[in-house]
Amino acid sequence: MGKNLHIVTFGCQMNVHDSDRMAAILKAVGYNYTDDVTNADLILINTCSVREGPEHKVHSQAGIYKPLKDKNPDLIIGICGCVAQQKGEDILKQISYVDLVFGTDALPILDKLVLKAEQTKERICATTFQDDESYKFVEILPDYSKNKFSDFVTISKGCNKRCSYCIVPFTRGKEIAKPYQLIIKEIEKMVSFGIKEVTLLGQTVNSYKDVKNDVDFSKLLKLVSDIEGIERIRFTSPHPKYFTKELMDTMAELPKVMSHIHYPLQSGSNSILKHMRRQYSTEQYIEQVDYLRKIIPNMEITTDIIVGYPTETKEDFNDTLNVMKRVEFENSFSFLYSPRPFTTVFETENITPEEENKERLQILKELQETISKNKTQKLIGSVQEVLIEEENDGRNKNQYSGRSRGNRKVYIDDIKGYKLGDIVNVKIISGSVMALKGEII
Ligand code: SAH
Ligand code: SF4
Ligand code: F3S
Repeated sequence: MGKNLHIVTFGCQMNVHDSDRMAAILKAVGYNYTDDVTNADLILINTCSVREGPEHKVHSQAGIYKPLKDKNPDLIIGICGCVAQQKGEDILKQISYVDLVFGTDALPILDKLVLKAEQTKERICATTFQDDESYKFVEILPDYSKNKFSDFVTISKGCNKRCSYCIVPFTRGKEIAKPYQLIIKEIEKMVSFGIKEVTLLGQTVNSYKDVKNDVDFSKLLKLVSDIEGIERIRFTSPHPKYFTKELMDTMAELPKVMSHIHYPLQSGSNSILKHMRRQYSTEQYIEQVDYLRKIIPNMEITTDIIVGYPTETKEDFNDTLNVMKRVEFENSFSFLYSPRPFTTVFETENITPEEENKERLQILKELQETISKNKTQKLIGSVQEVLIEEENDGRNKNQYSGRSRGNRKVYIDDIKGYKLGDIVNVKIISGSVMALKGEII
């Protein structure tokens, strides 16, 4: 009898991708994935520490599983991801019923760690960073036995920036580029499993540089685009410092590169950007966005914004609102600033009361919603190219969904003889804030 594994994932696409790969590693040593946590022999909590909220979830989530552990002492509970990397042994001290803690570089030895925990009942912690490329980039593909047409590939790990507010460089380590041949080989394998769309992942994805082979991000896009069977390419998240004209022109030249970027602005105030050490100005950012929209038809741009940064004044916040109005982002994720350990502004006192910052966040969200709805309305009547990815069960039994080139979710009632994995043209008939609904033409 095989054993069962359940994983709960917080955080960004890196974590989502890591969870998929962990499931594949553990499948090879007898763990079948289950959605039913009460049935699990091994539970992994893949954590995020980018803000305080997600970090606290580690304790509450582990607490949910404590009664299961009380009932079944053989149950193994593991904590991994960014909080595990950040806190290591402390987690074992703080949560008595956790058996295993492993960091963001421990995937290649995960099977051994789990087997050791099973056999010895020892509590284990493995959170050292591994700088050795051949170890760090050991090929671990997710399990492609289920229908899947779009997936991630990590092209670089870690981050060499030191944005004043951000913990990621401390939880993911320094930036290391995966040798380009490994990336190409991995994508070719993904194609053999039916993948048609690939999303290149990196914290500052466009700073990619395989120095030994002189392959930068533009060159990599061209190489990926040459792979037969890959029909669509996305990447996340680009950093303005590395968004060169050459890169934008390359995107425009390659029809497989999709017309969407998630492009974190963080703030629309130059003095805040400087304090954050973001290394660009709002003028540069706007110039880049204008150029992209000029050379790529229907380019859609989404962003991340931090509200209530410790030194943010009312004027700074107004600057952010103004940039938002000027750029008209298709959508944005806005977060209340959260002080993070190790970062340079951790101890900086906030000049604005929390209540006021919360109001600012609300104002920003409302402005974004108006812009988003407006933009969505403009797409009604347009034709969008959609990769059909899912059949949605439940109430709308026969409804399918996929993504447009601009990365919008598009719902389709009748796929007219087409099948999952096909790329079709869809005439848009309605839309909500972001999602669209249409008919295949
Ligand atoms: N590497 C990406 C961002 C990764 S973190 C980039 O530089 O663009 C994802 C998002 O979390 C960031 O874009 C930022 O908006 C938000 N974030 C990071 N640290 C934060 C903090 N201390 N408080 C609030 N939001 C934060
Ligand atoms: Fe964090 Fe800045 Fe690195 Fe992004 S670029 S992960 S915000 S330090
Ligand atoms: Fe969170 Fe780690 Fe991603 S801190 S945002 S899971 S890199």
